[in-house]
Amino acid sequence: MKPFEKRESWKSRTGFIFAALGSAVGLGSIWRFPYVVGQNGGAAFILLYLIFLALIGFPILIAEIVVGRTAQLSPFGAFKKIGKNKFWGFSGKSVIFTGFIISSFYSVIAGWMLGYLIESILGHLSFSASSQALDHFDKLSSSAFWSVGFHFLFMALSILILFFGVRKGIEQKSKIMMPLLIVVVIILVIKGISLPSASKGLKFLLSPRWDLVTPAGILIALGQAFFTLSLGQGTMVTYGSYLSKKEDIPKSCFPVVLLNTLISILVGIAIFTIVFSQDLQPGVGPSLIFETLPLVFSKMKLGYFLSIFFFLLATLAALTSEISALEPFISYLIDEKGWKRKKASIFTGVLAFLVGVPSALSFGLLKRFTLFGLNFFDFISFLSVNILVPLGGFLIVVLVAYVWGMKKAFEHLKVSKEAFFHHRPLVAMYFKICLKYISPILIILILLNVLGFF
Ligand code: PHE
Repeated sequence: MKPFEKRESWKSRTGFIFAALGSAVGLGSIWRFPYVVGQNGGAAFILLYLIFLALIGFPILIAEIVVGRTAQLSPFGAFKKIGKNKFWGFSGKSVIFTGFIISSFYSVIAGWMLGYLIESILGHLSFSASSQALDHFDKLSSSAFWSVGFHFLFMALSILILFFGVRKGIEQKSKIMMPLLIVVVIILVIKGISLPSASKGLKFLLSPRWDLVTPAGILIALGQAFFTLSLGQGTMVTYGSYLSKKEDIPKSCFPVVLLNTLISILVGIAIFTIVFSQDLQPGVGPSLIFETLPLVFSKMKLGYFLSIFFFLLATLAALTSEISALEPFISYLIDEKGWKRKKASIFTGVLAFLVGVPSALSFGLLKRFTLFGLNFFDFISFLSVNILVPLGGFLIVVLVAYVWGMKKAFEHLKVSKEAFFHHRPLVAMYFKICLKYISPILIILILLNVLGFF
């Protein structure tokens, strides 16, 4: 079980923060967040989401990072070392499996974003009616060549980054891509709020409509808080394993949660002000980005460039998340099988690409192929995002709070006299209560809901 090469590590704290933020800000923030906010009560939903971030997102993020950092191993080795038996080794493997499966279909949607970036550049996205935008999207997403082709390209880009390792790959590239992403978000927000009818969009996003909040909506907010921080799939355990023993974990994690939330809300502001400027309705679900937005951009001055900016933003966000979903499996192959990083990256990339192909074909060739009434893409994304991810979160909570114990966890969190949890015993207490009592209960509620108990 000895690592065969010296373990890689982040060069700096900022490097870690950008990498973890890169993982967090992804399709969940840019594609999913705006439309679930639109459908579930605007600011009321955002408020619930913030509460869940504080109650379970932030504490579990800290828990995952401390497990990885303490063990300095992939989730398999880390779970086994801390849980001290086979069951936990198996749990570690299951969590790595979840991340891997997510990486396979995540790349399909991310590939569409990349494809739409190219479409924007080529000037193919100019529509005068929503039916045109719809037909265009249907045509592309059902084409095996287009869908599998961009899935392949996107996966190849991700592997290219991972090839260079933790510092030169993930860290260095995130430190370039994330600031660029933030600049693009700011440009889009400025454009959005300077439009004449911006207030309508802002009102839609920022006024609470409690009548639209349903029990299902509450659980969506909970799931979103979980997914957006890339929890429950080994990513943060792995990123934690590259963190120096001297780093104060709560202090390094806080900016990640804060900036991720800020970026999600800003993207929401940009999208809604832009959509409302053309009197279109935002509550249209997932097609918001591929149908409504291109139509809006077609009608706007400088829409050509805005569209390029937007799909660039989405592609960058997805890329830094995709690499974080692939990395747990790669680190497993390096730690446990003694593979070189280059071999491990290529192997993981090829495998994830192949497993992703049926997802890429789910909107065309394999449209009629269903499992439990869902097409392959919907089935596998439902299974992983709604079942395996909360399950992974539950395992990590039990591992840290009950098997390892809070006392040991705190020993590794209070790294020095200056450590945040030393200074702020109340916050430390809050962390303990959230991890030990609140999060397991909330996760069980999510799972029962998914399984149809409510
Ligand atoms: N946090 C990412 C998002 O919001 C999701 C993600 C999933 C990231 C899996 C890494 C791994 O899109």
